[in-house]
Amino acid sequence: MLKLSDVHVFYGHVHALKGVNLTVEDGKIVSLLGGNGAGKSTTLKMISRLVQPKKGNYEIDGKSLMKDSPSQVVKKGIIHCPENRRVFPLLTVEENLMIGAYNRRDKHIKEDLQKVFTYFPRLKERIKQKAGTLSGGEQQMLAIGRSLMGKPKVLLLDEPSLGIAPILVKEIFEIVKQINKDGTSVLLVEQNAHMALSISDYSYVLENGHIALEGNSQELKDNDEVRRLYLGG
Ligand SMILES: Nc1ncnc2c1ncn2[C@@H]1O[C@H](COP(=O)(O)OP(=O)(O)OP(=O)(O)O)[C@@H](O)[C@H]1O
Ligand SMILES: [Mg+2]
Repeated sequence: MLKLSDVHVFYGHVHALKGVNLTVEDGKIVSLLGGNGAGKSTTLKMISRLVQPKKGNYEIDGKSLMKDSPSQVVKKGIIHCPENRRVFPLLTVEENLMIGAYNRRDKHIKEDLQKVFTYFPRLKERIKQKAGTLSGGEQQMLAIGRSLMGKPKVLLLDEPSLGIAPILVKEIFEIVKQINKDGTSVLLVEQNAHMALSISDYSYVLENGHIALEGNSQELKDNDEVRRLYLGG
């Protein structure tokens, strides 16, 4: 279980997270919704320690991560798939995937590569292709595949649907569901609230650095405020 308690983050004078409390229970998909600038990406960056918390605590399975470096967080099974995909454009699909395993010394890396190809057969077809020549949707698949190569216990997924054709968005969300069924918890940041609420178990709504609302995703779908603000009425 990943648990954030009263987490505060500042960018200079900008108080971006103002006491965030959030829990991702094992085996669940949890979505984090909210408008532009609400602090969604900051929450994920804080968990993976690309930005530092100023106050508060967060832990995995009861052990605090407050003193950890980004690579220690990765070693504990928390893998961040960032906003805008960030694949290495000049490296091949295979090389990008192998970078996801850089922290591992075990013998199962090859098997896990095959597993990624069963989730995303398109990546296998394009194994020697430079990542920069993939379509946006394929780059998103590659970014998720690269994260899977780190063997996540908890996958932090930032806006996987951004700028992607609707048909691929559906495909990607189906695979996220499958990844979750295969044992990875997911913290999903999404602007596509319809999609996020339909695949997640529990959801939080961030507003201006605060959790404004939380609940079972099914219940939030029927919440008047959520419908008005995030689901188009
Ligand atoms: N590096 C930075 N320096 C200064 N301010 C920042 C920085 N990164 C983010 N912010 C500010 O922190 C707030 C939260 O940003 P964040 O990127 O977490 O929002 P978000 O919810 O992910 O938004 P979006 O939906 O647009 O991706 C915003 O007001 C943003 O301007
Ligand atoms: Mg963001």
